[in-house]
Order: sequence, then structure tokens, then C-alpha cells
Amino acid sequence: MTPQPLETAATEALLAFWRDAGVDACYLDAPVDRTIFVAPPAPQVMHKASATVTALHGGQHGGMSSADAVNEARRLAAAATTMDELAEAVAAFEGCPLRAMGAKQAVFGRGNAKGSILLIGEAPGETEDLRGEPFVGQAGQLLDRMLAAAGLADQVFMTNTVFWKPPGNRPPSPQEQAACAPFVERAFALMQPKAVLLVGAAAAKSVLNTDEGLMKIRGQWREWSPSEGGISTPVMTTLHPAFLLRQPQAKRVAWADMLSLAARLDTAQVEPKA
Ligand code: URA
Repeated sequence: MTPQPLETAATEALLAFWRDAGVDACYLDAPVDRTIFVAPPAPQVMHKASATVTALHGGQHGGMSSADAVNEARRLAAAATTMDELAEAVAAFEGCPLRAMGAKQAVFGRGNAKGSILLIGEAPGETEDLRGEPFVGQAGQLLDRMLAAAGLADQVFMTNTVFWKPPGNRPPSPQEQAACAPFVERAFALMQPKAVLLVGAAAAKSVLNTDEGLMKIRGQWREWSPSEGGISTPVMTTLHPAFLLRQPQAKRVAWADMLSLAARLDTAQVEPKA
């Protein structure tokens, strides 16, 4: 049946509405309610990340169950002995559901893998998806300028809690973050940074496993001891540069966080880790 001009116009208007609302990819025939809690299967000894993944999702990623995806991520991550190998392992990983949701490529990391700061952001955006590197869009450029002004630019290796752009730039879900967490933890273990900087609420929630508000925890120093690597490091959360672009008056507190980070590293240099 040939569509009538009126139907074509209505369809185009609907598609434009979805696009403007951030629906930029279609990957399932039916909607998924990700707010529904699926009861976990029979209790068994399980790593925290895979327990979270199973409890929240219980689904299949790239043909594997959520728990298998975490195990596969752990296996691939553990085999990587350099950051370049880890980037290759991420690119080969099929267990994160985001991979099949319209992302163009894996976006793992950029910066100095031998530096003293591991920076963990939320997720790649559109520019990162096109270029294959984290924090290269407008927000990333602001972040670069702040790090440079604090004298930290060459000290940082940047990555994200997930390595594929979420559709519509929505925040990554806990199960997507859990599937990618073994790679973030391996990056930490390989780098052994003197400090970790979490950028934005989604990174703080995933790494610190907290629901505390961003404005409450930003600027505070805590300890992060990932299961991988057997080491712990001071970790601070700061505001996301995309938020600073929208709310420039918040740059003042983010700048205070940067100075706190720089000061912490000065201290770390005179007091090397045991
Ligand atoms: N925002 C993030 O959190 N990470 C990026 O890589 C880009 C934008």
C-alpha cells in the first residue's frame, strides 16, 4: 500500500519528536522496563558486581547471561598486561548490552597510562563515539582546560564506567556498568594511580556504590579498594563538565576540587604508597 502524503508527514513528525527526545537508536521490537526488579536466582557465591547484574537484570547480553558477561569481562581483563592490551580486550568484549544499542565503536581510554590520576567518567557521548576516545567533545575540552590549569594535564588517564555510548545519551544502567567494571578495575590495577577522580554522579554511584547526592559527596576524599589488584587509593568525586557547561556558576566548586586533587598529589609524592 502506498503511504498517503498525510501519513508520511505524520510519521516524519513522530520520528522528529523521538529524535529530539533523544531516541537515536532502535534495538528491540518491544520496550523493556528497566525499573522492574527481577528476583535473583538461587543463592550462590558470587562477586558483588555479578550479583548486582543478576538481581537487576537477569537478562542476556550478546548471547550470554548477565553473570556470564561479568565473568567473561573478568577473564578478558585479567589477561591484559598493558593498557593497550586492555583496550583491545574491551573492543573484543561482547557482554555489555550497550554494544548492540547503536554505538559505533568501543571507547576505552586516553591519556598517560603511567600517570598518577585515574579519571572515571560516566559514558561516551556522541563525539566520543565518533572519535573512539573519551572526553573529546565540548565537555571533555572544558575538563582538559581545568586539568591543564591545575597543572595535572599530563598526569591523567581517562576512562568511563561503560565503553559504548548509551542510546539518547541516557545514563548507563547499573547492569551495564557492572558488565564493564572488571575492565575499569583492571585499568586501576595496571596503573596503580595515586588518586582516582570520579566525574559526575553516575561514576560515583558505580564506583563508590552509593546513593548519596553528588553535591554532598563532591570534594570529599574517600578510599577505593576494588576487588582487583589488592590495593586501595584515595578517591574524590567532582562535578561533571557537561553540568558545568550548563551551570557555569558551579565551576567555582569544581575548581576547588581540582586544587584539592593537585594538593593531594603533592602530598602523595612526599609520602609514597607503602
Ligand atoms: N562524558 C563522560 O562522562 N565521558 C565521556 O567520555 C564524555 C562525556
